[in-house]
Amino acid sequence: MRVLLLGATGNVGSRLLPSLVAHGHEVIVFVRNTSKLPTEATSCATAVVTGSATDSDRIKETILSNQCDAIINAAGVAPMLGQKGELPAIFKAVSKAAVEARKERGGPPLRCWFLSGFGIMESPKKPHMLIDYVPIFTIHRQNLAYIRSIPSSELAWSLFCANQMDPRSPSVNYNPKPGVEADNLVAGVESPPAWSKTMQWVPLVGTYLNVLMQMQHYFTPLEDCVDFIASDLAAGLESEYVGHRVGVKSKAKAA
Ligand SMILES: NC(=O)c1ccc[n+]([C@@H]2O[C@H](COP(=O)([O-])OP(=O)(O)OC[C@H]3O[C@@H](n4cnc5c(N)ncnc54)[C@H](OP(=O)(O)O)[C@@H]3O)[C@@H](O)[C@H]2O)c1
Repeated sequence: MRVLLLGATGNVGSRLLPSLVAHGHEVIVFVRNTSKLPTEATSCATAVVTGSATDSDRIKETILSNQCDAIINAAGVAPMLGQKGELPAIFKAVSKAAVEARKERGGPPLRCWFLSGFGIMESPKKPHMLIDYVPIFTIHRQNLAYIRSIPSSELAWSLFCANQMDPRSPSVNYNPKPGVEADNLVAGVESPPAWSKTMQWVPLVGTYLNVLMQMQHYFTPLEDCVDFIASDLAAGLESEYVGHRVGVKSKAKAA
Protein backbone atom coordinates (compact mmCIF):
# COMPACT_ATOMS: atom_id res chain seq x y z
CA MET A 1 0.00 0.00 0.00
CA ARG A 2 0.98 3.63 -0.36
CA VAL A 3 0.62 4.98 3.15
CA LEU A 4 0.50 8.60 4.26
CA LEU A 5 2.07 8.81 7.73
CA LEU A 6 1.52 11.91 9.86
CA GLY A 7 3.56 12.44 13.04
CA ALA A 8 6.73 10.64 11.93
CA THR A 9 8.90 12.76 14.23
CA GLY A 10 7.07 11.56 17.36
CA ASN A 11 7.48 8.53 19.63
CA VAL A 12 4.90 6.45 17.83
CA GLY A 13 5.29 7.77 14.28
CA SER A 14 9.10 7.43 14.23
CA ARG A 15 8.73 3.70 14.94
CA LEU A 16 5.78 3.25 12.60
CA LEU A 17 7.85 4.40 9.62
CA PRO A 18 10.42 1.54 9.55
CA SER A 19 7.76 -0.94 10.58
CA LEU A 20 5.53 0.01 7.63
CA VAL A 21 8.49 -0.23 5.27
CA ALA A 22 9.42 -3.65 6.68
CA HIS A 23 5.87 -4.78 5.88
CA GLY A 24 6.39 -3.79 2.25
CA HIS A 25 4.51 -0.48 2.25
CA GLU A 26 5.63 2.70 0.54
CA VAL A 27 5.45 5.54 3.04
CA ILE A 28 4.80 9.21 2.34
CA VAL A 29 5.89 11.06 5.44
CA PHE A 30 4.05 14.28 6.35
CA VAL A 31 5.84 16.45 8.92
CA ARG A 32 5.89 20.11 9.82
CA ASN A 33 9.64 20.23 10.34
CA THR A 34 11.90 18.07 8.15
CA SER A 35 15.00 18.95 10.20
CA LYS A 36 13.60 16.74 12.97
CA LEU A 37 13.74 13.66 10.73
CA PRO A 38 16.95 11.64 11.07
CA THR A 39 18.72 10.63 7.84
CA GLU A 40 17.69 6.98 8.32
CA ALA A 41 14.04 8.05 8.40
CA THR A 42 14.33 10.18 5.28
CA SER A 43 16.00 7.35 3.41
CA CYS A 44 13.28 4.83 4.27
CA ALA A 45 10.48 7.18 3.18
CA THR A 46 9.22 7.16 -0.41
CA ALA A 47 8.58 10.92 -0.14
CA VAL A 48 8.67 13.60 2.52
CA VAL A 49 6.04 16.36 2.51
CA THR A 50 6.05 19.44 4.72
CA GLY A 51 2.84 20.81 6.19
CA SER A 52 0.65 21.13 9.23
CA ALA A 53 -1.62 18.24 10.16
CA THR A 54 -4.39 20.81 10.67
CA ASP A 55 -4.19 21.80 6.99
CA SER A 56 -6.83 19.63 5.35
CA ASP A 57 -6.24 20.95 1.82
CA ARG A 58 -2.51 20.20 2.01
CA ILE A 59 -3.20 16.68 3.27
CA LYS A 60 -5.77 16.06 0.52
CA GLU A 61 -3.34 17.30 -2.14
CA THR A 62 -0.66 14.97 -0.72
CA ILE A 63 -3.03 11.98 -0.80
CA LEU A 64 -4.00 12.68 -4.42
CA SER A 65 -0.57 13.50 -5.80
CA ASN A 66 1.02 10.46 -4.13
CA GLN A 67 -1.88 8.06 -4.83
CA CYS A 68 -2.12 7.08 -1.17
CA ASP A 69 -4.54 4.31 -0.30
CA ALA A 70 -4.02 4.35 3.46
CA ILE A 71 -3.33 6.89 6.19
CA ILE A 72 -1.92 6.54 9.66
CA ASN A 73 -2.33 9.55 11.92
CA ALA A 74 0.15 9.67 14.79
CA ALA A 75 0.27 13.49 14.76
CA GLY A 76 -0.93 15.49 17.73
CA VAL A 77 -0.92 14.90 21.45
CA ALA A 78 -3.91 14.39 23.74
CA PRO A 79 -3.96 17.27 26.24
CA MET A 80 -4.47 16.66 29.96
CA LEU A 81 -7.91 17.36 31.42
CA GLY A 82 -8.90 21.04 31.23
CA GLN A 83 -6.25 21.92 28.61
CA LYS A 84 -6.88 22.60 24.97
CA GLY A 85 -4.86 21.26 22.11
CA GLU A 86 -4.79 20.76 18.37
CA LEU A 87 -5.75 17.09 18.36
CA PRO A 88 -9.46 17.54 17.45
CA ALA A 89 -8.47 19.94 14.65
CA ILE A 90 -5.89 17.43 13.37
CA PHE A 91 -8.41 14.60 13.60
CA LYS A 92 -10.98 16.55 11.58
CA ALA A 93 -8.48 17.81 9.03
CA VAL A 94 -7.13 14.30 8.31
CA SER A 95 -10.61 12.70 8.08
CA LYS A 96 -11.95 15.50 5.88
CA ALA A 97 -8.93 15.27 3.57
CA ALA A 98 -9.37 11.50 3.22
CA VAL A 99 -13.10 11.74 2.52
CA GLU A 100 -12.68 14.55 -0.02
CA ALA A 101 -9.74 12.88 -1.76
CA ARG A 102 -11.83 9.74 -2.29
CA LYS A 103 -14.78 11.78 -3.58
CA GLU A 104 -12.50 13.56 -6.04
CA ARG A 105 -10.74 10.50 -7.45
CA GLY A 106 -13.56 7.94 -6.93
CA GLY A 107 -12.90 4.31 -6.02
CA PRO A 108 -12.76 2.68 -2.58
CA PRO A 109 -12.41 4.61 0.68
CA LEU A 110 -8.99 5.13 2.21
CA ARG A 111 -7.96 2.76 5.00
CA CYS A 112 -7.15 4.93 7.99
CA TRP A 113 -5.73 4.23 11.47
CA PHE A 114 -5.89 7.03 14.05
CA LEU A 115 -3.84 6.84 17.23
CA SER A 116 -6.42 7.36 19.97
CA GLY A 117 -6.71 6.60 23.69
CA PHE A 118 -7.50 3.60 25.90
CA GLY A 119 -10.11 5.52 27.90
CA ILE A 120 -12.70 5.43 25.12
CA MET A 121 -12.89 1.63 25.15
CA GLU A 122 -16.13 0.27 26.69
CA SER A 123 -16.05 -0.30 30.42
CA PRO A 124 -17.39 -3.52 31.95
CA LYS A 125 -20.58 -1.56 32.72
CA LYS A 126 -22.02 -0.61 29.34
CA PRO A 127 -22.72 1.90 27.90
CA HIS A 128 -20.00 3.57 29.96
CA MET A 129 -16.43 4.04 28.77
CA LEU A 130 -13.31 3.61 30.88
CA ILE A 131 -12.92 7.38 30.65
CA ASP A 132 -16.10 7.76 32.76
CA TYR A 133 -14.18 6.19 35.67
CA VAL A 134 -10.70 7.56 34.96
CA PRO A 135 -11.25 10.93 33.24
CA ILE A 136 -7.89 11.54 31.59
CA PHE A 137 -7.29 12.34 27.92
CA THR A 138 -11.02 12.97 27.55
CA ILE A 139 -10.47 14.63 24.18
CA HIS A 140 -10.65 11.19 22.54
CA ARG A 141 -14.38 11.05 23.33
CA GLN A 142 -15.14 13.88 20.91
CA ASN A 143 -12.88 12.38 18.27
CA LEU A 144 -14.81 9.11 18.52
CA ALA A 145 -18.15 10.91 18.14
CA TYR A 146 -16.78 12.74 15.11
CA ILE A 147 -15.39 9.70 13.32
CA ARG A 148 -18.59 7.75 13.92
CA SER A 149 -20.47 10.40 11.96
CA ILE A 150 -18.52 9.39 8.82
CA PRO A 151 -19.91 6.34 6.95
CA SER A 152 -17.39 3.53 6.44
CA SER A 153 -18.16 3.71 2.70
CA GLU A 154 -16.40 7.11 2.80
CA LEU A 155 -13.56 6.32 5.21
CA ALA A 156 -12.45 2.87 6.43
CA TRP A 157 -11.31 4.07 9.85
CA SER A 158 -10.02 2.33 12.97
CA LEU A 159 -9.03 3.91 16.27
CA PHE A 160 -5.98 2.42 17.95
CA CYS A 161 -6.88 2.68 21.63
CA ALA A 162 -3.76 1.54 23.45
CA ASN A 163 -2.94 2.52 26.98
CA GLN A 164 0.60 3.78 27.64
CA MET A 165 3.06 2.47 25.04
CA ASP A 166 6.62 2.25 26.37
CA PRO A 167 9.46 1.65 23.90
CA ARG A 168 11.65 -1.38 24.69
CA SER A 169 14.56 0.49 23.20
CA PRO A 170 15.11 4.26 23.39
CA SER A 171 16.39 4.26 19.81
CA VAL A 172 14.40 3.46 16.69
CA ASN A 173 15.15 0.11 15.03
CA TYR A 174 15.31 0.79 11.28
CA ASN A 175 15.37 -2.95 10.45
CA PRO A 176 12.50 -4.52 12.40
CA LYS A 177 11.32 -8.04 11.57
CA PRO A 178 7.76 -7.71 10.22
CA GLY A 179 5.00 -9.50 12.12
CA VAL A 180 7.17 -10.79 14.97
CA GLU A 181 6.36 -8.20 17.62
CA ALA A 182 2.66 -7.91 16.74
CA ASP A 183 2.44 -11.56 17.75
CA ASN A 184 3.09 -10.52 21.36
CA LEU A 185 -0.35 -8.85 21.51
CA VAL A 186 -3.98 -9.88 21.77
CA ALA A 187 -6.51 -7.41 20.36
CA GLY A 188 -10.15 -6.69 21.04
CA VAL A 189 -12.73 -4.47 19.37
CA GLU A 190 -14.87 -2.03 21.35
CA SER A 191 -13.95 -3.60 24.75
CA PRO A 192 -10.39 -4.20 25.99
CA PRO A 193 -9.27 -7.81 25.35
CA ALA A 194 -8.79 -10.27 28.24
CA TRP A 195 -10.38 -7.99 30.84
CA SER A 196 -10.41 -9.48 34.35
CA LYS A 197 -13.42 -9.01 36.62
CA THR A 198 -11.26 -8.58 39.75
CA MET A 199 -12.99 -6.55 42.50
CA GLN A 200 -16.11 -6.02 40.41
CA TRP A 201 -18.16 -7.81 43.06
CA VAL A 202 -17.52 -5.07 45.67
CA PRO A 203 -20.85 -3.28 46.32
CA LEU A 204 -21.24 0.27 44.92
CA VAL A 205 -17.58 0.93 44.05
CA GLY A 206 -16.77 -2.43 42.45
CA THR A 207 -16.58 -1.16 38.85
CA TYR A 208 -14.38 1.82 39.87
CA LEU A 209 -11.96 -0.48 41.70
CA ASN A 210 -11.99 -2.95 38.85
CA VAL A 211 -11.24 -0.31 36.20
CA LEU A 212 -8.50 1.32 38.30
CA MET A 213 -6.79 -2.00 38.95
CA GLN A 214 -7.10 -3.33 35.41
CA MET A 215 -5.91 -0.29 33.45
CA GLN A 216 -2.25 -0.70 34.42
CA HIS A 217 -2.23 -4.19 32.87
CA TYR A 218 -2.75 -2.63 29.44
CA PHE A 219 0.62 -0.86 29.18
CA THR A 220 2.25 -2.34 26.07
CA PRO A 221 5.64 -2.14 24.32
CA LEU A 222 5.51 0.49 21.59
CA GLU A 223 7.36 -1.72 19.10
CA ASP A 224 4.60 -4.37 19.39
CA CYS A 225 1.90 -1.77 18.73
CA VAL A 226 3.45 -0.29 15.60
CA ASP A 227 4.04 -3.78 14.19
CA PHE A 228 0.38 -4.59 14.90
CA ILE A 229 -0.87 -1.57 12.92
CA ALA A 230 1.58 -2.15 10.06
CA SER A 231 0.59 -5.87 9.89
CA ASP A 232 -3.11 -5.03 9.73
CA LEU A 233 -2.73 -2.92 6.59
CA ALA A 234 -2.24 -6.09 4.54
CA ALA A 235 -5.94 -6.88 5.14
CA GLY A 236 -6.86 -3.53 3.58
CA LEU A 237 -10.58 -2.78 3.59
CA GLU A 238 -11.29 -6.38 4.67
CA SER A 239 -9.65 -5.78 8.06
CA GLU A 240 -11.80 -6.93 10.97
CA TYR A 241 -10.91 -3.66 12.68
CA VAL A 242 -12.57 -1.30 10.16
CA GLY A 243 -15.14 0.90 11.93
CA HIS A 244 -13.97 -0.08 15.42
CA ARG A 245 -12.09 1.04 18.49
CA VAL A 246 -9.24 -1.42 18.93
CA GLY A 247 -7.56 -2.20 22.25
CA VAL A 248 -4.51 -4.40 22.81
CA LYS A 249 -2.89 -6.28 25.68
CA SER A 250 0.41 -8.13 25.93
CA LYS A 251 -0.19 -11.88 25.62
CA ALA A 252 2.07 -12.39 28.61
CA LYS A 253 -0.35 -10.33 30.75
CA ALA A 254 -3.46 -11.84 29.18
CA ALA A 255 -2.65 -15.40 30.24
N1 LIG B 1 2.87 7.41 23.51
C1 LIG B 1 1.91 6.75 24.14
O1 LIG B 1 2.14 5.99 25.11
C2 LIG B 1 0.47 6.87 23.66
C3 LIG B 1 -0.51 6.08 24.25
C4 LIG B 1 -1.82 6.18 23.77
C5 LIG B 1 -2.12 7.05 22.75
N2 LIG B 1 -1.12 7.83 22.20
C6 LIG B 1 -1.48 8.78 21.15
O2 LIG B 1 -0.61 8.60 20.04
C7 LIG B 1 -0.39 9.86 19.39
C8 LIG B 1 1.10 10.07 19.20
O3 LIG B 1 1.73 10.02 20.47
P1 LIG B 1 3.30 10.23 20.62
O4 LIG B 1 3.67 9.68 21.95
O5 LIG B 1 4.01 9.74 19.40
O6 LIG B 1 3.38 11.83 20.69
P2 LIG B 1 4.67 12.75 20.36
O7 LIG B 1 5.93 11.99 20.56
O8 LIG B 1 4.47 14.00 21.15
O9 LIG B 1 4.51 13.06 18.81
C9 LIG B 1 3.51 13.90 18.33
C10 LIG B 1 3.74 14.07 16.85
O10 LIG B 1 2.71 14.91 16.34
C11 LIG B 1 3.31 15.88 15.50
N3 LIG B 1 2.45 17.06 15.40
C12 LIG B 1 1.83 17.72 16.40
N4 LIG B 1 1.10 18.75 15.90
C13 LIG B 1 1.30 18.71 14.55
C14 LIG B 1 0.83 19.50 13.48
N5 LIG B 1 0.02 20.54 13.65
N6 LIG B 1 1.25 19.17 12.22
C15 LIG B 1 2.06 18.13 11.99
N7 LIG B 1 2.54 17.33 12.97
C16 LIG B 1 2.16 17.63 14.23
C17 LIG B 1 4.63 16.17 16.18
O11 LIG B 1 5.47 16.86 15.28
P3 LIG B 1 6.70 17.80 15.78
O12 LIG B 1 7.85 16.86 15.99
O13 LIG B 1 6.87 18.75 14.67
O14 LIG B 1 6.27 18.44 17.08
C18 LIG B 1 5.07 14.75 16.50
O15 LIG B 1 5.59 14.13 15.35
C19 LIG B 1 -1.08 10.92 20.27
O16 LIG B 1 -2.33 11.24 19.72
C20 LIG B 1 -1.25 10.23 21.59
O17 LIG B 1 -2.36 10.73 22.30
C21 LIG B 1 0.16 7.75 22.62
